[in-house]
This record gives sequence, C-alpha cells and structure tokens, in this order.
Amino acid sequence: MMVAKRVQNVVPSKIRELFEKASKMEDVICLGIGEPDFDTPKFIKDAAIRALKIGKTKYTPNSGIPKLREAVAEKYKKEYGIDVDTDEILMTAGAYEAVYLTFQALINEGDEVIVPDPAFPCYPNDATMTGAKSVRIALKEENEFRLIPEDVNEKITKKTKMLITCYPNNPTGGVLKKEDYKGISEICEDNNIFLLSDDIYEKIVYDYKPQCFKKYYDKTIITNSFSKTYAMTGWRIGFAIAEKEHITPMLRVHQYAVACLNAPAQEAAYEALRSDQSCVASMVKEYRKRRDYTVKKLNDIGLKTILPKGTFYCYPNIQFTGMSSSRFSEYVLKKCRVVVIPGNAFGENGEGFVRISFATEIEKIKEALDRIENVI
Ligand SMILES: Cc1ncc(COP(=O)(O)O)c(C=O)c1O
Repeated sequence: MMVAKRVQNVVPSKIRELFEKASKMEDVICLGIGEPDFDTPKFIKDAAIRALKIGKTKYTPNSGIPKLREAVAEKYKKEYGIDVDTDEILMTAGAYEAVYLTFQALINEGDEVIVPDPAFPCYPNDATMTGAKSVRIALKEENEFRLIPEDVNEKITKKTKMLITCYPNNPTGGVLKKEDYKGISEICEDNNIFLLSDDIYEKIVYDYKPQCFKKYYDKTIITNSFSKTYAMTGWRIGFAIAEKEHITPMLRVHQYAVACLNAPAQEAAYEALRSDQSCVASMVKEYRKRRDYTVKKLNDIGLKTILPKGTFYCYPNIQFTGMSSSRFSEYVLKKCRVVVIPGNAFGENGEGFVRISFATEIEKIKEALDRIENVI
C-alpha cells in the first residue's frame, strides 16, 4: 500500500541519525541533545504523585484543566502585561503539538510559510505535512542571527500565510532587539499574515528579557512548553495561545488526535507555574557557568562563537577547518567521541556551523572540548 503523499517528503531527523551512530560507540560525550540534564524539581514531581494518589487518573477537559489555563493567563498578565482569556489557551503535548496544530488548523495546501534558516526542523516538516511551501530566510552571523524585519518583507508574496519565529533561538542562541519585535509585528499586520512565535526558551536567558509578540500583534500564535523551563521534557506538556477563532480549530484537531493531556502532568505544571521560580533561576545560573566556559574555550580553540544571550546552545563557526558541518560532526564523533549537531540539520544556511548544547555537566563539557582541541 502506498504511504500518504503528505508524509513522503517528511525528512527523518539528522540529529537522530547521529545519536544512533553514537549509541553504538563507547565513552561518547553528547553535546548534541536539546534537553536539560537536570531532573524535574522535586516539588513538581510531588504534585503529580499527589494527583495520582487521590485518583486523578481520568480523562481531563480537552483544552486542559481550568486552573492550569488560568495560571497560564496570569503568567502572561504578570510577565508581559497581556490579557489572555482562558478560552484562548490550549494545553498541548509539548510545543511540538502546539506547532503541529497551528499548521493543521490554519495553513492550507499551496500556502507559503516563512521559516528562518537555520531553524528547529519541525517547522518545515509540519509545513510539508500540510502541503504548504516553506520559504526560508537566512539568519546571518553578522546580525547575531536576529531575524531582520526588512528581510522578512522581501520574502512576502500573495501566498504568504504565516511567519515563524523562535527567540531565544534554537539552534543559534540568538535573541531579538526590542525594535525587531515591533518591526516584525508591523510587517505581519500590514500583510495580514499569522505570526507563530515559538517561545519555548523564553526563560533560559542571560541578562536579557524577551518581549512577547502578542503584545504587538493580535494574530500571533504563541507556542510554549514546560519542557525546557522546568526540565520536564518527558512529561509532554506545553500550550498554544491564539485568538478564540484560531484556537478553536486547533482544539478540534487536538480533540481527535490527543483528546486531552494526562491529569498528573497538568497538576505538576500548575505547581510549576505557581512556585516562586527559584528552581528556574538555579538551573539558569548553572547554564550560565557552562555557557561562559564553553564559549570561551571554543573561541580559544579557534572556533569563532558568539556568546548566546538565551537557550543552552551555542553555534560555533567551523569554516576555518575547511570541512562541511556534516563532515566536522562525523570527524569529531569518530576522533573525539563527542556528539555535536551539524548546522545543516537546521537548514542549508546552517552549513559552516555546528550546534553545541551545554545542557550537560561541566566536567563532561570540559573533557569533550579538550578532546576537540586536541584534534583541531
Ligand atoms: C524550538 C523548539 N520548539 C519546540 C520544541 C519541542 O519541545 P516540546 O514538545 O518538548 O515542548 C523544541 C524541542 O527541542 C524546540 O527546541
């Protein structure tokens, strides 16, 4: 039987390929993974355990439990001064599902979606699954990987339906200036296109506070998650925020795909939002130490690396080695037993760079970078 056309062009993750190779080797240090190495804070886990103990083991409301959506609304009011109605919030199985639902509910076959390059690979693949075309827009090193409003303007055609942004940015660690938020929002508004802002790294920042696109433009769809902020990747809990008329069709898709999220994860997420956030501050403090070490060492080795203001990734330029980014990653895996992700896993414009994650213990980072230094 033929596989459905819409999945034939969905590309397997290059990141997975590398992990599979690495899993067959011994003494490998992974600087590839986009996942906090911390355990979920105990008070968050306890909330889930309590929920299970008192029998919260049933289906939950499709949109998410009301008190959790209220807590999300309060977060946006407190942190960004934005009024979000609970009806405009949909709890999802991570930001992955939130992004997928956005494409499924709002994008038609033949539409164009502007996707930065490099970018997290789910965006172009979600576009492929809806039959839409991804129009890539280069993020440049000389601009510290900001998305420049004028560059967005140049890519807009009559077919453009949505722009994707992700800041702080995976894979580059780049952030936007305040005026970028305004400029990009104005372009989306002038052209009446959706703006999907994937804000999953919003809290992993260093001397920097991100803005929220929703403050500038109503037709922003926010996707966000508990995965990175609270070290909850395996819990599969995130959310989407959009105007009622747009969240409703997203809910319809969610209803028939996932139905609802599990109750303990939602209770845990509620507890996470209600806490004093010191658990987040202490994880970020640790990431900062690792970031400072990693970036200095990479620059000392000769791999030019911009100091990221957000995320737990840095994005060294490897061009002086004369290798392609795939070749460099394979070489480093073979000779040093260290996993780094080739920049071209995030788009053609990622060529010449690799992504290094510092969501790993500092001792391992030191060892891995010493090994790389030796072969460089
Ligand atoms: C930019 C970005 N968006 C979305 C996701 C999906 O995260 P989750 O589904 O765990 O919330 C990730 C995961 O690495 C990511 O880096």
